[in-house]
Amino acid sequence: MSASETKTPLTSRRGAALAGTITVPGDKSISHRALMFGLLTVGETRITGLLEGEDVLNTAKVCRQLGATVERTGPGAWRVQGVGVGGLKEPTEPLDFGNAGTGCRLMMGVIGCHPIRATFDGDASLRKRPMRRALDPLELFGVRVVEQGEGGRLPITIQGPKDAVPVTYESPVASAQVKSAVLLAGLNAPGITTVIETEATRDHTERMLSHFGAEVTVTPHGAHGRRIDLVGQPELKAAPVVVPADPSSAAFPIVAAAIVPGSDVTVTGVMMNPLRTGLITTLIEMGAEIEVLNARVESGEDIADLRVRGSRLTGVDVPAHRAPSMIDEYPVLAVAAAFAEGPTRMRGLHELRVKESDRLAAVAAGLAAAGVAHTIEGDDLIVAGDGRAPGGGTVETHMDHRIAMSFLVMGLATAQPMRVDDTAFIATSFPDFVGLMRGLGADFS
Ligand code: S3P
Repeated sequence: MSASETKTPLTSRRGAALAGTITVPGDKSISHRALMFGLLTVGETRITGLLEGEDVLNTAKVCRQLGATVERTGPGAWRVQGVGVGGLKEPTEPLDFGNAGTGCRLMMGVIGCHPIRATFDGDASLRKRPMRRALDPLELFGVRVVEQGEGGRLPITIQGPKDAVPVTYESPVASAQVKSAVLLAGLNAPGITTVIETEATRDHTERMLSHFGAEVTVTPHGAHGRRIDLVGQPELKAAPVVVPADPSSAAFPIVAAAIVPGSDVTVTGVMMNPLRTGLITTLIEMGAEIEVLNARVESGEDIADLRVRGSRLTGVDVPAHRAPSMIDEYPVLAVAAAFAEGPTRMRGLHELRVKESDRLAAVAAGLAAAGVAHTIEGDDLIVAGDGRAPGGGTVETHMDHRIAMSFLVMGLATAQPMRVDDTAFIATSFPDFVGLMRGLGADFS
């Protein structure tokens, strides 16, 4: 399995204010998709700014197993020679996605409507996560699930149909992974494949479909949703992809700067796609001093530099419909909430239970280890904001990179140090997290 089996603990301590300018690595969602679109395109796709974390490197390896030539030409610079929609080679070995739900579920879609057989597998964390959410719609295209673990868990073997049929699918979960799996499967089905989502989720797949020349239409659906129609069996045209900095990684230095008094940190080139900015909206509502500088558009995505200063935060009520735009940011928002005055209620967090860990439970346990008063009511997490965040505990990371990074950030502002039991999984999404944070003045040892 991809991350180290030996635990590598780390302790963070309160120290001086954080200061400096950093750039965080490329967006994980876009990086996975860029490689997959490269695979599905005949010709050469050049990618710059690719996240070179373990999750994405596993996707690169799987693309090779399916027939693509994938080469690294420099830091973050990659070249993919693809095989085209319909051209995937049957893999001879199981496909190992390590810790990556996105890599695995999206690739189920990529492979689904090809008449080949493939086995999907991953690490102990990924083997616990639900996969039926991607398999259910794929079966409607004619995909056959040959083998699956208990409850539709990995390892899973699927057999694609000779003649796929297009599908109209209304997803029962607000999930960009499920939406993307359906759209990617629809690429190799004739006719129009339609996905309806009642809550809009990140739209990187839709944007990349257009960027690579597919015919895709997005229309509003209900109060917060969208309908996406895709014309199947296009010939995708190779196009360069510039991957912007990942807002989900930027979240850690941003919250760190906001909770450590006197800090002044700028994170450059952060993707500001409106379906990814829920945390920034929420922090600004809490009173965080965040300046959005040099707002610009690069490669079809909104980008900006974010200057964040140590701030006095106030508790807020975060509506459930905001969840898809900040789904990966709740652990670090809970950390910010621990230093706010008054309660913060985060509503509708049921999806957090099926992430790299049961994140709702892992966040609650981490807050408890830090002595921070909080409650869970149904799917809501309430952090009391009573002015007490003594720290002094050890947090179990449960193979979850974002739990590790969130509580390391917390220890920069608690009275006593915070220890996380394992930092190995940080390498899945943000390999230089510790180095970049130390560069801002973080005391990690
Ligand atoms: C992702 C979608 C989200 C998110 C994940 C990346 C994507 O998952 O948590 O980190 O790239 O599509 P869900 O679709 O399960 O919400």
